[in-house]
Amino acid sequence: MNPYSPQLIDESRQGEALTKNKESLVDSDPNEVLLVSKRSLYIESYGCQMNFSDSEIVASILENEGFTLTQNPKTADIIFINTCSIRENAEQKARARLREFKSYTSRKPGAIIGVLGCMAERLKGKFLEEEKLVDMVVGPDAYRDLPRLLSEIDHGQKAMNVLLSREETYADISPLRFTSNGISAFVSIMRGCDNMCSFCVVPFTRGRERSRDPESIVREVEDLSRQGYKEVTLLGQNVDSYKYDLGESVNLDFADLLERVALVDPEIRVRFSTSHPKDITDKVLHTMARYENICKYIHLPVQSGNSRILEMMNRTYSREWYLSRISAIRRIMPECGISSDFISGFCSETESEHEDTLSLMESVKFDYAFMFKYSERPGTLAAKRYPDDIPEEIKARRLQEIIDLQRKHSFYHLKNQVGQVQKVLIEGRSKKSSLDYSGRNDRNAMVVFPSTQNLSPGMYAWVKIIDCTSATLLGLVQNEF
Ligand code: SAH
Ligand code: SF4
Ligand code: F3S
Repeated sequence: MNPYSPQLIDESRQGEALTKNKESLVDSDPNEVLLVSKRSLYIESYGCQMNFSDSEIVASILENEGFTLTQNPKTADIIFINTCSIRENAEQKARARLREFKSYTSRKPGAIIGVLGCMAERLKGKFLEEEKLVDMVVGPDAYRDLPRLLSEIDHGQKAMNVLLSREETYADISPLRFTSNGISAFVSIMRGCDNMCSFCVVPFTRGRERSRDPESIVREVEDLSRQGYKEVTLLGQNVDSYKYDLGESVNLDFADLLERVALVDPEIRVRFSTSHPKDITDKVLHTMARYENICKYIHLPVQSGNSRILEMMNRTYSREWYLSRISAIRRIMPECGISSDFISGFCSETESEHEDTLSLMESVKFDYAFMFKYSERPGTLAAKRYPDDIPEEIKARRLQEIIDLQRKHSFYHLKNQVGQVQKVLIEGRSKKSSLDYSGRNDRNAMVVFPSTQNLSPGMYAWVKIIDCTSATLLGLVQNEF
């Protein structure tokens, strides 16, 4: 679930380790002499934004215990890998990485390898018993227990905590934003998922849905505003079912929360992910339309364009319902960007049902999409009920057809924006040319333009779009803020 980069076919941001801010954390610390005695911690994160956000919680908890972050797994005292179970290949990648880590720690006596996140929750003790690759296994709701678990290992034991919680939201922990660029930040607003999409492992790895206290969310965004951040992305597996009991039978819903966050600072852009088609309300859409700083962009995973398959997936909406939500978005916010997720070759999917997916794509024309072959996950409803009976080559061919069509639609949307003047949040230098800046417009498209003297990352610019490539808009600065 990373609606940030278009057309990813697989897990996004795979294997991003700590980046940008490392100097401020370790290397340039004036108390270097003192730090020598501190134990160093390396964290590598896989999977969705939620996992990246959780790694920032883990870093914060352990920094408070005196650990320092490092960028180098080869010399680290502790290596954590925050894992994803969403598809089989995500787990294979994590195992390969763990084997590599094992080769580092076998040369460094006392070094510890820990597996965190969804794979830890799914496989639990199997990691310790069968695979012998790790010293500790910690599920997503047990990160507060990390200091105790580490001390257990220091006393010569293996350590595990995979208890799921109905309450834990880490609301009071201020994340250590080591993967952030200082401009955009993730803010987790809820955890877990109560939907039981039949293909999905998340309800098993993340537990029951719970919403975080709105006061703590607003405080976190106020803090980010003070630190100069310009964009927040509110995170949850199904943000539209956010609900917080304020007492006296008053509930705060997602639209209310969105409004509160938008009001914190008009200079901060607000994004969110992920919306569920069955839950996204007109109230949310009207709130988005009302506030200039709520980005006009919605990630609304459809999975399939065929109602029989959607029912087997237990998505609890039909093709017609989905299309009616798209109409509502277009009616209330004609300029809103929309992206989606697709799964090809779900159990028993026929050729004509696959074509329904292509025809739905044709009628919506998404800005971007994340597209996957169905991967059976042990323990899910689909694994129990339906045979995974679409041959691999058919899954792959259908996926390719979805990807090819999506490419056309992404390009179509980019071309339509040529000629517009758009507000762009500058994120940094373009990867291709250090003379250019890159940033995103409101609807989440990447815009590249020649830098000018008065602009710098973290500022907004009005950019006239003059051309596009298959994935990027090209522009010229029209006006500086
Ligand atoms: N909560 C989000 C999705 C989280 S998982 C939502 O409901 O939309 C991100 C995406 O991974 C899903 O939208 C789906 O397209 C894909 N996915 C999940 N389980 C999968 C599986 N077993 N095989 C293939 N793709 C899967
Ligand atoms: Fe998985 Fe469905 Fe929950 Fe998304 S809404 S996390 S796909 S169960
Ligand atoms: Fe993966 Fe867990 Fe996120 S399975 S997609 S890391 S919630």
